[in-house]
Amino acid sequence: MNDVFDYDAELIRYNERLRAAAHVTTHDRVLDIGCGAGQTTREAARSASSGSAMGVDVSASMVDRARRLSEKEGLRNVTFERADAQTHPFAPEHFTVGISRFGTMFFTDPAAAFTNIGSALRPGARLVQLVWQAAAQQEWVGAIRHTLAGEGRMPAGLTGGAFSLADPTVATGVLTTAGFTAVEITDVREPIYYGPDAASARDALVGLGMVEYLVADLDAAVSARAHDRLLALLDAHDTGEGVWFDSRVWLITARRP
Ligand SMILES: C[S@@+](CC[C@H](N)C(=O)[O-])C[C@H]1O[C@@H](n2cnc3c(N)ncnc32)[C@H](O)[C@@H]1O
Repeated sequence: MNDVFDYDAELIRYNERLRAAAHVTTHDRVLDIGCGAGQTTREAARSASSGSAMGVDVSASMVDRARRLSEKEGLRNVTFERADAQTHPFAPEHFTVGISRFGTMFFTDPAAAFTNIGSALRPGARLVQLVWQAAAQQEWVGAIRHTLAGEGRMPAGLTGGAFSLADPTVATGVLTTAGFTAVEITDVREPIYYGPDAASARDALVGLGMVEYLVADLDAAVSARAHDRLLALLDAHDTGEGVWFDSRVWLITARRP
């Protein structure tokens, strides 16, 4: 995960959906899983003005950035830990709400990870997450893959990683195995933002690693043409208010019994 890409800008529409669903109130103690630079953690801390919010992320640089941004805002009820949420020894039954904005899809053993997260939640606590639906549902994946593939080739399908909880049966199974109940999965569709213009959007995608991954085994001339096609595609998606792509996610809520 890189430090350059601006997830806060990309996910601005989804952020509102997560915030509404999490419905953090004054006395909540919130755990933000895979918090990245901590925008959602800080928002939770502001809502839990007599409670607290803790963000955890495996990336030291993300946690540093989250701490710096929170200090700058003068927030006193927010903390960040560099931790692997799969195994971190959280205080048992401490948190009243767990949230995650695309931070729970990268676990190597999801059932064990969610069991660990569940043990950190108080009985009755809610877990509210956003995860990507399948790659085939994402205009941003399809368009970018198609544009970069060219030359009669298509890269292999994208399934794991960011899309590991894309199948609702799998997500429900994992959460149920981990002891959660009342699993509800809602289809949410919002555009995602890649930058004010095509060139910035291309730089963002290169920073995200997506472009390099797709052109990794193409020769230099093909790769250059692919980048040109990408730029043209991004330009076509420039609405005049920036470059936007359609996307679909699952809003998953569950309860710790
Ligand atoms: C797509 S980013 C989302 C970051 C943040 N939630 C946001 O919306 O801006 C996924 C984040 O999950 C973190 N992550 C991945 N696996 C993790 C794990 N096992 N424990 C904690 N964080 C993890 C990554 O380091 C990364 O910052």
